[in-house]
Amino acid sequence: MTVIAIDGPAGSGKSTLARGLARALGFLLLDTGAMYRALALAAQRAGIDPNDADALTQLAQQAAIQLVAQGDATRVLLNGEDVSEAIRTPEISELASRVSVHSGVRRVMVQQQRAIAAQAYGVVAEGRDTTTVVFPEAAVKIYLNASPQERARRRQQQLQQQGIDAPYEVILQQILERDARDAARAESPLRPAPDAIILQNDGWSKEQTLEHALQLCRERLGVPE
Ligand code: DC
Repeated sequence: MTVIAIDGPAGSGKSTLARGLARALGFLLLDTGAMYRALALAAQRAGIDPNDADALTQLAQQAAIQLVAQGDATRVLLNGEDVSEAIRTPEISELASRVSVHSGVRRVMVQQQRAIAAQAYGVVAEGRDTTTVVFPEAAVKIYLNASPQERARRRQQQLQQQGIDAPYEVILQQILERDARDAARAESPLRPAPDAIILQNDGWSKEQTLEHALQLCRERLGVPE
């Protein structure tokens, strides 16, 4: 099993990059954020307090969260129900960043992520701790970053495409708060692995980011172009 792991803050373009790499290399896409989002949705539906670590850990053990490849897209299933769209709202973004602070929750999720990867020939994993905790032995580790302002602009466009109108200032504020929470938490804080390649992609197009990363992966994996 070959793992390419990509970490970075919200809106850095990790998901787009991971999707592009997975497609180009024929690898499975493992969107770990989608798993935390699905758990957040399950918690919301069950009326569980985001501070209740025990109840959330139990929920993580019980909920069946699946990532199913469907053509170029990956559908997220929660107990068999397709929740791919339902987990992309600003409310669930917020809740996912709260439920993911608990160590018990993270232990369960990391176990599940490794189990998914173990079944695959090659995996592109993306999230906050895939290079540091989930797959420290990954063949390629990338830390993708962009300024908060650039990330807020991108997130706003993304939301608009989904028909959600949110003011730039609000999105920027949310991004800054989520960054702070992701970086400050005791368990698996967001930080670059010492041996990660840092890509700062302000002003780069999606295609440029993909091309750059693909080049790196091909060099590291010894894959001919
Ligand atoms: O990448 P994303 O926005 O879909 O992630 C949603 C939330 O889940 C985000 O606040 C951070 C958290 N997360 C995490 O703690 N660890 C991961 N490996 C992936 C996401």
